[in-house]
Parts: sequence; C-alpha cells; structure tokens
Amino acid sequence: MVNQTVPSTGPSPAPADQADGGHARLRQSAQATLDGNWEHDHTVPSRTLYPHQWSWDSAFIAIGWAHVRPERAWSELSSLFAAQWRDGRVPHIVFNPAVPATAYFPGPLFWACTEVEGAPAVATSGLVQPPVHALAAWHAYERAPSPQARDALRRLYPRLVAQQRYLATRRDVGGAGLAAVVHPWESGLDNSPAWDEPLAAVPAEASVMRAYRRRDIVHAAAAHRPTDLDYARYVAIVTAYRAAGYRDVGLAERHPFLVECPLFNAAMGAAEHALARIAGQVDADPGPHREKAARITTALVDRLYDPATGTFHARDLRTDRLTPARTVLGLAPLILPDLPARQVEAVLAEATSARFGLAERMERPLPSHDRTASDFEPLRYWRGPSWMNVNWLVRYGLLAHGRDGLAAGLRASMIELVETAGCHEYFHPQTGAGLGSADFGWTAALLLDVLAD
Ligand code: SER
Repeated sequence: MVNQTVPSTGPSPAPADQADGGHARLRQSAQATLDGNWEHDHTVPSRTLYPHQWSWDSAFIAIGWAHVRPERAWSELSSLFAAQWRDGRVPHIVFNPAVPATAYFPGPLFWACTEVEGAPAVATSGLVQPPVHALAAWHAYERAPSPQARDALRRLYPRLVAQQRYLATRRDVGGAGLAAVVHPWESGLDNSPAWDEPLAAVPAEASVMRAYRRRDIVHAAAAHRPTDLDYARYVAIVTAYRAAGYRDVGLAERHPFLVECPLFNAAMGAAEHALARIAGQVDADPGPHREKAARITTALVDRLYDPATGTFHARDLRTDRLTPARTVLGLAPLILPDLPARQVEAVLAEATSARFGLAERMERPLPSHDRTASDFEPLRYWRGPSWMNVNWLVRYGLLAHGRDGLAAGLRASMIELVETAGCHEYFHPQTGAGLGSADFGWTAALLLDVLAD
C-alpha cells in the first residue's frame, strides 16, 4: 500500500484524538476531574459543595473509575460499604473527619449518628439514597473484569444483599413490597416537584433557617438551589427521624414524610437483577434475586403506574395518593428489564413527548422535570435542569429494551453537553449552560462510560 500525503487544510486532531473518535481530550479532562476529586479511598462529588462521600455519587463514580483506574472503583464502593449500619442501611453521606465540621450543612454534629446504636464509628448521615450500587458494581465489573475485581465483588455481595434486605423489610412502610423514602434527600432529587404535595404538609417556616448557616449557597447561586423553605422542611424531617433514633419501627404512625418513589424502587428492582448476575460470579444462588426482582417490578406497576397519565408517579403514603407532577422520575422504571411491554411503551411515549424531548436526534439531554409544566424552573436543581446520572439511567434502560436509536440520540446529546459546558453538576435544559458546582464527579465518571461505547 502506498502512503499518500494529503495536504492539510487546517489544524488536525492529535493522533490520540483520532483514535478515540475525537474524544481523547474530553476523556482526559473527565479523568482529571475524577483525579482532582479523589480523596484517599473515595471521590468527593465536588471539592466545594460536597466535600464528603455521598452514597449514590460513589456508585456512579465507580463506573467511571472502572474505565481508567479500576482499583479505585472497588475502593470507592468498599469505603462506602465500610460505613454500612448494622441494620443494613448504607448512609447517604459518610463524613470525612479531616474536613472541618462546618464545611457542609448539615454536618456530622447535626446528624449525631455516632451516638446511635448500630451506626458505625465513622460519622454518617442517618438517611439512605437510591440503591444503584449493585447495578454499578456489576457494570464496573463488566467494564473491567479481573480476578481482583471478582474478589472485590465477592466481598461486596453480602453487603449489597444486606442493603436490599434493609430496604425491602424495614422500609416497606406501605406493606406492598416497595421501599418508602423518609426524606426528599433519600430520593436523590431533593426539590423535585414530585415532593411538593407531601412536603407542603410538613409544618415549617423559612425563617427557621436563620438559626443555621447554609453552606451550599456560599458555593452555588441561590437561584440554582432549593429555597430556604425547602431547607426548613428538610431540617424538620431529619429532626423527627433523629428524635426517633433513626428507627424505622412505627414510621407510618409518626413520620411526617413517607413516599414511594419510582426511581428509588426501580433501582431496588434493578439491584436484584444485578445481584443475580453477581451471584453467578461469586458462587451464590441467583434464583432468589430473580424472584425478588419480579416481585418488585409487579409492585411498582401496581402501585406507581397511572394508566390515566401513562407514566409513573410517586405515591404519598400519608394520603395514599399519587403525586401529580410528571418528572423524570417517571421514566426510571425503564431500567427494569422485566418491565411489561405496555409500561415500556408508555414510558417511551412520555419520554419522546414535548415534555422530555427524547429523540434519535436531540439537541439537549432530558430535563429533570416536564418542560411544558407551569412549575418548570430551568435553573433550579431538580426542578428542570438536566443531570447526567438520570440521563445515564434512562439510556441504560433504552439499551436494556433494545431501543438503540433513541439510546444513541441521548448519548450524543450527553457528550455534546459536557463537551461544551464542562463537567458541571447540572445543566440548563435549554441553553446547555453549566449550573451548580464545576468539576463534578458523576458527570465526569458517566461521561467516561458513555464515551467508551
Ligand atoms: N443533595 C443534598 C445537598 O444538596 C445532600 O444529599 O446537600
């Protein structure tokens, strides 16, 4: 073969870039973000806004590490699960004792968990977050299988099982096989419009926040964050749970916020599917996990799918009603491979409608809330902005159901967004501008994952 020299018409990409579909620099900057946020055995979501270890952040971040430094993926998950409570709950924050207690609100003194029986010696919060860890562990393993990774999976497996047992038993407040979240922070989508009704029933005054110092609005614009009234209610709900020693017995009678969330429960079902696959690698029986997964999917459809709207909603257990908002939470059940065809079609119809704009060619990723709703707020945290993690989950679901064209459209929009705005925490759903914190862990990690496909 003869090598021909083609005259150059402009700057050409670096050789590594060409070998990587033009994305080598993007990968480098994502890895630099993860490296910059690495903290001895875990990754902080953000050096400024979130200087400790967060539960579902660590799961998504482990997926990214699997591509570049697989040993850190396993360190990330094992450091988180080292803080698991005796009852099986995996705390949503593990506080780094080297960081000043005042760096984040509410800090370790507010939670006062080290005094609670069954809590670990390290300071944590008393809440949980969506159980995406088994799915992340399996995904990380598939991305970088090795004997070391299999050993790590073997050590994690009983802890992942205990996490599921906690949620399926102590948190089954509704008695129908789904887990209830006891705080909007547990959903991960703190100020989603899905919580407006149940939160409005929590007595609180914004002025309460004068007694505290919110640290988030020192690092991010107040217009991008939940309001003081939201925070007053968040504080009131933690105070109620803390006063009960973070016990779950009697929640139905006394707790001010109890909701079944479609994303949280879809994650719980997807975790059983992932555990079945992990069991196959660690000489355990996958059968019980498959049975549990099937039961969760059935309960999710029975309890949270509304045939009248054609989407999934949160159920407020205090009123036993579905909350009306149509948020991105309603699309999350797509991650269940056994979601019945009728609900798959309904979720796809919702996702491809003007509300969310999913398409094979789409300009922007999915927003966190219905773009056509009167309470859509494009700047404010989970009330409109686009987030990489929920987009990643929906893409995962599209691939699970063989919708490759839509998955490709979503992938391209996710890459373009981060390429233009950088590894921000979230993004304006129309302009694509970066919002919240810069150099955000899961944005970098999940970008690495989608780039690898
Ligand atoms: N998302 C919460 C915050 O903004 C913590 O879980 O601090």
